[in-house]
Amino acid sequence: MSDQGVKVAVRCRPFNQREKDRGAKLIIDMNGAMTTIQNPETPNEEPKKFTFDFSYWSHDGFNEKDDGYLEAVPGSKYSSQRRVFDDLGQGVLDNAFKGFNCSLFAYGQTGSGKSYSMVGYGCNKGIVPITCDELFKAIEAGDPATKYEVTFSMLEIYNEQVRDLLSKDNPKGGLQVRQNPKLGLFYVVGLKKVAVGSYAEIDKRTQEGTANRTVASTNMNATSSRAHTVVTITFDQISKNEAGEETKKSSVINLVDLAGSERADSTGATGDRLKEGANINKSLSALGNVISALADLSSGGKKKVMVPYRDSVLTKLLQNALGGNSKTVMIAALSPADINYDETLGTLRYADRAKKIKNKAVVNENPLDKLIRELREENEKLKSQMGGAMPVAGGAGMDPGEIERMRKEMEEEIRAQLLANQEQMNEMDESFEDKLKRNREEQEAMGAAQANTQDRKSKDPHLVNLNEDPMLSGVIFHFVEPGEMTIGRKDATPPPMIALTGLSISKQHAVITFENSEATVKPGEQGAKTKINGVPLTGPTTLQHLDRVLFGSNHMYVFHNPLNPKAPENTPTKIDWDFAQKEIAKHKGFDTASAGMSKEQIIAQEQILELLPMVSEVNAISEELNKHRTFEVILISGAAMEGYGSKKGAKVVVKMKNLLNGNTWLWERGKFMNRRYMIQELYQRHLDGDEDVMKIPKEEDPFWEPPEDVLIGTANVFLQSLSYALDFDDKLSVTDYKGVEEGNLYVNITPCSDKGKPLDEDFFVEDPQELLGKPFHYKVTIKSAEVNKAKYSKGLHVRYKVYQDEDFTSTPVIKATLSPEFKHHRIITYPAVNEDQLGYFEQGCITFQLFGVQEDSVNDNRLMKMTTKELRQMEQLQNPGMQRRQTISGEASEESKLRNELEVLKKKFERLEKKEKRIQDLCSEWKGKPVEEQQFEPFWRHVSAVANSSGNKLKTRVEILNTDDLVSVYSFELDPNAKEQTHVGNNNPEAKRNGGLGTGSSDSPNVIQSQKMTQEASAGGAQNGSNGSINSGAGSKACIIQ
Ligand SMILES: Nc1ncnc2c1ncn2[C@@H]1O[C@H](COP(=O)(O)OP(=O)(O)OP(=O)(O)O)[C@@H](O)[C@H]1O
Ligand SMILES: [Mg+2]
Repeated sequence: MSDQGVKVAVRCRPFNQREKDRGAKLIIDMNGAMTTIQNPETPNEEPKKFTFDFSYWSHDGFNEKDDGYLEAVPGSKYSSQRRVFDDLGQGVLDNAFKGFNCSLFAYGQTGSGKSYSMVGYGCNKGIVPITCDELFKAIEAGDPATKYEVTFSMLEIYNEQVRDLLSKDNPKGGLQVRQNPKLGLFYVVGLKKVAVGSYAEIDKRTQEGTANRTVASTNMNATSSRAHTVVTITFDQISKNEAGEETKKSSVINLVDLAGSERADSTGATGDRLKEGANINKSLSALGNVISALADLSSGGKKKVMVPYRDSVLTKLLQNALGGNSKTVMIAALSPADINYDETLGTLRYADRAKKIKNKAVVNENPLDKLIRELREENEKLKSQMGGAMPVAGGAGMDPGEIERMRKEMEEEIRAQLLANQEQMNEMDESFEDKLKRNREEQEAMGAAQANTQDRKSKDPHLVNLNEDPMLSGVIFHFVEPGEMTIGRKDATPPPMIALTGLSISKQHAVITFENSEATVKPGEQGAKTKINGVPLTGPTTLQHLDRVLFGSNHMYVFHNPLNPKAPENTPTKIDWDFAQKEIAKHKGFDTASAGMSKEQIIAQEQILELLPMVSEVNAISEELNKHRTFEVILISGAAMEGYGSKKGAKVVVKMKNLLNGNTWLWERGKFMNRRYMIQELYQRHLDGDEDVMKIPKEEDPFWEPPEDVLIGTANVFLQSLSYALDFDDKLSVTDYKGVEEGNLYVNITPCSDKGKPLDEDFFVEDPQELLGKPFHYKVTIKSAEVNKAKYSKGLHVRYKVYQDEDFTSTPVIKATLSPEFKHHRIITYPAVNEDQLGYFEQGCITFQLFGVQEDSVNDNRLMKMTTKELRQMEQLQNPGMQRRQTISGEASEESKLRNELEVLKKKFERLEKKEKRIQDLCSEWKGKPVEEQQFEPFWRHVSAVANSSGNKLKTRVEILNTDDLVSVYSFELDPNAKEQTHVGNNNPEAKRNGGLGTGSSDSPNVIQSQKMTQEASAGGAQNGSNGSINSGAGSKACIIQ
């Protein structure tokens, strides 16, 4: 017995094109056995450290050879595919030869490189093909007296259902998983195991499995990265032992490419009413739990840990690989980019736990006779059990119904067991040679077709598929035959030549005519949805080399015409899924050029590209299940969603609309993804003939949502005026996410006293920096609104956030009007303005969100009679496409920002005009004085008081001291710099009297002497200082009455 821990390897892939485009930062580093990860949010903190058995740096330091193979640049730390095999694959092989069970599984988030390591792409073959290749080489070089028998099987677990990838006809609901009562192990009932005699045979079978996977995933709209693929190779070595007995040494090799490990919470699904969908991949979370439990057990901390293998299909099948008789290796695939920090850290922690698991692998070697004898004996026992009384536990007091149910269950269990044993015995009865022969015959037929495909690819025009998963792209070929070729659903009459299944595929979907080296495609029936290069197909269109063709919602192909291989200009030579999706998005009105975009904008764009196909799929399901809902991807400015700040960029959300009553909902990406998964599940049940799908109670229906207040539109107020202590009062237009005006909002933002009293008209700040460190108050008033659409009369309210608000402030809901009077006031106080707050004034804005109340109103009977498809068509006629191109920057905000700046300039100008007028008045006043009074010094003081009336040294802190409406007492606190200056200035009592008045001459060095002073003056005195009375030094504050 070999007591050994699970061996863990980590591998870091290169940046992909998207990451390069957005200038991603590298957050992973590897040094010897140590892998570090840096949190991009805290670049000064120590990176987190992990150590593993094997660390593979495949991020950089490689060259691409002419054939595409990536090899290490001499001296670099790059790990090639071969290097990974040499460590991991070779280990698996050696152990298999010794008779140990082996398992190798790859874990990591979508796109992190699991399939690259396991299967590989092109000539960069992964561990699985190299291991298989090497296995046969080793067999060839092996002992001639030993018989080697290899079988191959390939399955996929998707949505807790097992699909045999080597079989075209999988039962609905998938294959069953049962437990062998004797061995305790789980197995898949009826899984096809093919005998293979060479690597080429395995390769062909893998291709067959991949093609089946692709067809199934395209037809079912399944997301392949949510599926686990398990390849199982059994390797038996039969030889005679010293006693002359025939013995069998067997090894089961499991090679598992796990589903992407995205955690539901990272996509933002938390908080959804329907939680089940958050458990998007039950098998994967169960695997996490099993690994944790096993790690606890192995570290010896807890003695009694229940390992929850039974919680999912995957963990049942991997029971042995994880916690039993197996030599196990896990590869954790790491994304190197900063944006994936959370996920990658999650993967590293997962891998760290896995390395604690200890397995007990034993050599599986038994005399062959014994194996057969045991199987026979067990079969006999089972047969007798079937005939005899069932030992049902529970006994007295048990409900007879219950006993009967248990009896039935047991009977069924035994029957299945018998069948499985029988199959195993039949298998043993058939010699391996016969099995191999059978398999080769089957393959020959298939091989002919495969060879034919290879041959025709370079000669005949064809469509080749594109899939979101690069592994499943370029797998399906449809050759275009001369004459007419029909495409449609298989239940069409006459049956189509290319049968497609799945959403939005019409019976007579499309017809391709091929004549004189030219192919033309046209819709087969009205309403059949086909897109050519992103543009909906309405009439006959000639297909050019490398054109993209989308049938229905997700049968995507690239057309190849070797007879006329001239693609239109600007067609890239390599067309992938992303390119085809971008082009669709572009024609839907989304901006897809990424030049000059910020990181946030590029991320938003990526999300749009990801969501668009999902949304069209969900729309198609809504039509098929007649759910009266339509979905649309929309861009909302970040400010509109979050409430404040103008720098957040755009946010991608999905709008769901009830076509019967017009209610709408906005779903964040995570919530939509969660619902989409549930919707897919529902649709799958529908396809499987589950009639309950149509009667699902609304509480469980992923299409249903209780009515929520709808965001009618937003209006931004930029706060720049506040940084000059000016007020803002305006009618703002409320626009929706498309920029369409939905109404007006009357708001006012006024700098004020802490009690909300507006500041003196003349109080003006010339340089916003003056506000720093001083208290500041402003008042937000929402007066009223006017809304254009009558449907919003059920109730209206406005909400907003100002800087550092955690929660929204909301007005009350005003009902039964389209011109609500909100009369909302709020005073916001900053005890001492800091840089951030000042930055907020200068750059930020308040986004007022106008909401309308929605009710689950009675549905319109006329509409009820229409199908969802008809309703959606009607909706599209009413709102043809996007009214505006959706750009990812916020144009509307720019506009209102400019308006604000203009407003500030206007006020500054008014203020200068006032100064000018005042200086002119002073001049004429002095001109009129008797000559003996026309002294230079007092005149200069008056003029300079006005000329320098920025107030920036004196009126930096303004507080109202009384609440008397007729006379207000303000207190001003002096600027400490001013105080310094005034101390060194002269001591003229005249200056004392005049200093600090209204528009006071605080700038003048000889004005104020005391550190802090209180001054009282009448309103007039504040202007000219003549009526003011001074209580110098009486308090710590300067006061003015006005
Ligand atoms: N070590 C590597 N070197 C070069 N390219 C890599 C490497 N690892 C991954 N890639 C590339 O990254 C892309 C995503 O990799 P892959 O398909 O293996 O991801 P995955 O983890 O299997 O994702 P999913 O969960 O969606 O199946 C592929 O285009 C692949 O070629
Ligand atoms: Mg993959």
